Amino acid sequence: MIRLDKLISNSTVFTRSQTGKIIRKGDISVNGSIIKKASFKILENDQVQYLGVEINLPKTRYIMMHKPKEVVCSTRDGEHQTVLDLLFIAKRDSLHIAGRLDLDTTGLVLITDDGQWSHRITSPKHKQAKVYRVSLEEEIGDKAIKQLEEGVRLKGEDKATLPAKVNKLDSKTIILTLHEGKYHQVKRMLVAVGHHVVQLHRQQIGKIILDDALKAGEWRELSEDEIA
Ligand code: URA
Repeated sequence: MIRLDKLISNSTVFTRSQTGKIIRKGDISVNGSIIKKASFKILENDQVQYLGVEINLPKTRYIMMHKPKEVVCSTRDGEHQTVLDLLFIAKRDSLHIAGRLDLDTTGLVLITDDGQWSHRITSPKHKQAKVYRVSLEEEIGDKAIKQLEEGVRLKGEDKATLPAKVNKLDSKTIILTLHEGKYHQVKRMLVAVGHHVVQLHRQQIGKIILDDALKAGEWRELSEDEIA
């Protein structure tokens, strides 16, 4: 579902304000009826025409990127390169990031122009698993692992974190699976159990696993299965 004005400005050469004017003028029809409301919702199989000429609905885009360090997860930044700067595709302005990573974190970032889909990925209600490989400065013991698994109180928060899963890869590296996404959550959880994260890498969100074939800075479109 997409708003009529958004669909037209995403799929044609008309600017936002030109789009508003042609809709109000009655130049746009949806399934044969003139529609003058910019917020009218368009569904996947609707036929939209401008003065009788069909406008193809834009294909919704779903992208996975292997985010490198020192690239910022925002659409604009005065200082650093952004993940969108790494995408050489048209209409980048309509894309957004579904779940940000810190500047020094690497790994899986999902980028889309489907707001409902990204809401399912990021909303706490849907509890999508996020899997991180966490490298620590010091060796981690069983007590700290148990605390992480049971939930810890982060500085400035009233409630403990949800139960997490920890797999120890070696004395200073764990795989941490979370079902929530508070601000700087991994680093803050590790601080709460007396540890300092030296490297953080996201491997997976829900069932979407970062493709091994993607080097840092590379991206590809998601498959139908991954989108579903
Ligand atoms: N938790 C963090 O602390 N940083 C990230 O980039 C992601 C999760």
